[in-house]
Amino acid sequence: KKILTIAGTRPQLVKIAAVSRVLRQSFEEVLVNTGQHYDYNMAGVFFDELNIPKPDYDLGIGSDSHGRQTGKMLIAVEEVVEKEQPDVILVYGDTNSTLAGATVASKLHIPIVHIEAGLRSYNKKMPEEINRILTDHVSTLLFAPTDVAVSNLENEGINNGVYQVGDVMYDAVQFNMELAEQKYKLSYFGLEHKSFVLGTIHRADNTDNKDRLEAILRAFASIEEEVYLPLHPRTKSKIEQYGFEPILEQARNITVVAPISYLEMLLLEKHAKAIVTDSGGVQKEAYFAKVPCVTLRDQTEWVETIDSGWNQLVNPLKVDLGTILSNLTDGKPIEGLYGDGKSAREIVSIMHDYFK
Ligand code: UD1
Repeated sequence: KKILTIAGTRPQLVKIAAVSRVLRQSFEEVLVNTGQHYDYNMAGVFFDELNIPKPDYDLGIGSDSHGRQTGKMLIAVEEVVEKEQPDVILVYGDTNSTLAGATVASKLHIPIVHIEAGLRSYNKKMPEEINRILTDHVSTLLFAPTDVAVSNLENEGINNGVYQVGDVMYDAVQFNMELAEQKYKLSYFGLEHKSFVLGTIHRADNTDNKDRLEAILRAFASIEEEVYLPLHPRTKSKIEQYGFEPILEQARNITVVAPISYLEMLLLEKHAKAIVTDSGGVQKEAYFAKVPCVTLRDQTEWVETIDSGWNQLVNPLKVDLGTILSNLTDGKPIEGLYGDGKSAREIVSIMHDYFK
């Protein structure tokens, strides 16, 4: 059977790396890269470092408004699908690339497999939330990473084809942590074990709101700990647009760098004193690394990380990061919360039985 995988952003490449190596043992896979992320440090480095197979199609769509970006993807993906005639279309997560793949497949009556199904933040202003809901409602097989994701789907009347398989991002961490430690040393980054805060900010909610972005930068600048801040291109351009560079330049404790690779990120997560983020994936990686996480958002779709005590939601407009950091406590890991690191194998085995 032929599986057509559609992806195009940094977090999807991490998941593909975990799944493709197993998938290709049982299926023929055609890989389509939409090009939603296109800078070398947002995409190319992930292909190289994680040994992801070279895409069969590079659509080169790049950045645009949501409508135009998704629309261009629809046109280009449909052409590929008509040419390749796949038996199944595989999509990951919640990006515009996910939605485009799912939409094309549903119109052409091709079964859709959605990995990371059922997540909800219950905030429909997030583009990702719309992408998740729409994709789940047209999917044939829905691979949910947690029990909460399964019950979110049940609440929307989706009961068929739902499997709780754990999280492929946990597979990715298990596979790559040792490689990260072999390849990089903390001293390369000029950092010391448990003495720094690792920050990542890129959600439109935070970056495209001047007050929130300013509050976040000032919060980083206000603390004693060193802050290591790999800056997403969206965030960088908003900082320039709003003229916030002086906040970063005047802060002695902040090191701004370009986006770093996955292996570098894993290493820094492990050694951080705390992680401050608005990313979904990074919240979970903090949990896997047993590092306290402060999530600068009003909701999260990864509610288990909060329940376990390793993560807390903080409104960026009200954040007192210094007080939060001086009161950090460890959470309690919950056995098997995100699976056993063998999610990809389970997914492929279910797909094998279903599509044989
Ligand atoms: C996307 C996903 C989000 C995911 C995130 C991970 C959607 C709606 N959002 O958001 O779910 O968590 O990726 O990073 O699909 N840019 C570059 N170079 C790049 C990529 C982006 O300069 O390689 C800039 C562009 O100015 C662009 C902006 O970043 O306008 C935002 O890019 P976009 O494709 O909208 O996605 P993300 O914000 O990264």
